[in-house]
Amino acid sequence: MEKKTESKAAPEEEEQVQVVNPWEVSSAKGKIDYDKLIDQFGCQRLDQSFVDRVFRLTSRSPHIFLRRNVFFAHRDFNEILDAYERGEKFYLYTGRGPSSEALHLGHLVPFMFTKYLQDAFKVPLVIQLTDDEKCMWKNLTVEESKRLARENAKDIIACGFDVSRTFIFSDFDYVGGAFYENMVRVAKCVTYNKVVGIFGFTGEDHIGKVSFPPVQAVPSFPSSFPHLFSGNDKLRCLIPCAIDQDPYFRMTRDVAPRLGYNKPALIESLFFPALQGETGKMSASDPNSAIYVTDSQKAIKDKVNRYAFSGGQDSIENHRKYGANLEVDIPFKYLSFFLEDDEELEHIRKEYGSGRMLTGEIKKRLIDVLTELVERHRAARAAVTDEMVDAFMAVRPLPNMFN
Ligand code: TRP
Repeated sequence: MEKKTESKAAPEEEEQVQVVNPWEVSSAKGKIDYDKLIDQFGCQRLDQSFVDRVFRLTSRSPHIFLRRNVFFAHRDFNEILDAYERGEKFYLYTGRGPSSEALHLGHLVPFMFTKYLQDAFKVPLVIQLTDDEKCMWKNLTVEESKRLARENAKDIIACGFDVSRTFIFSDFDYVGGAFYENMVRVAKCVTYNKVVGIFGFTGEDHIGKVSFPPVQAVPSFPSSFPHLFSGNDKLRCLIPCAIDQDPYFRMTRDVAPRLGYNKPALIESLFFPALQGETGKMSASDPNSAIYVTDSQKAIKDKVNRYAFSGGQDSIENHRKYGANLEVDIPFKYLSFFLEDDEELEHIRKEYGSGRMLTGEIKKRLIDVLTELVERHRAARAAVTDEMVDAFMAVRPLPNMFN
């Protein structure tokens, strides 16, 4: 399919079996068809050559999420790497909508990866907390959204970001000045019909929603941060995110050239599957569908044992005979996100897939891996003080930006 513009209208009705946008991820077939999504959205697949190239350029081993293809799609990532190879820098932009107090493992994925990118490329990073977005979509009060933004900032900081290269901001606090000027520039370029086509708004949606997309668009432009990038209007931007955020940036890339800005590049991840199986992203409303960073060791153990969908067979005899179906097995999926050791994962793939390893054994390994991850996060978060949050969120130059 040839595509002419970045923004495509909603797919034809027979294709509506799969809905992926910033507020809904669902598929009538159960499983998300990521190849189809790449086609629909018009992004590119991230193949092995990128992994090798990142390895060469950064001289450090590529992050597990790159090696395992968790980040599987991109837009113009090659251009970022070309520029970097020529000695040009770029900046990173990611964000979070603070809709709940406790984050689950899926929420950590983009931040863990962004932290690696920041360290590997030694570049500045801006993190947007869209407290305004969640206030409007989740019907939270302004005060509650702001409180959640600050709480979530602690979890984000706990991922290990370098304060000398990182600016975290909440929309309620930061929008104004040059940032707002860019929002107005973007808004003037996007018709009502266009946002309806991209986001599927209806006449019943309040106008706050319709006018929100420019807020998430403009951190892609360096001039929105005069305290960081003044005089650096051509600095390129790379956005790591889950692929449900793509509509915002399709819109952004559409308008960027008209405003004289570079189009932001993107590197996009799969959704982290729910414990019950791969039917989309985890639902914040069902606590048993996800592992939270606040879960106790016992809670992790119980959830994995009771709810993690197994591809193992129904009896030991059948399991030994047929082996596990790794395509649908959640413990194996989760391990492929978080078990660092490639050889061990390969070993499990063979043993469990052939039936020599049992469901109980792979679940036990997963419980250990997740417990360690969650414990590490909990300790790091406990060490984040209010002063540290203030330091990350202060509007200030970043002394150590590019070295
Ligand atoms: N809309 C995102 C969410 O609900 C938050 C967000 C803002 C974001 N800017 C971003 C995510 C940039 C990824 C990249 O979580």
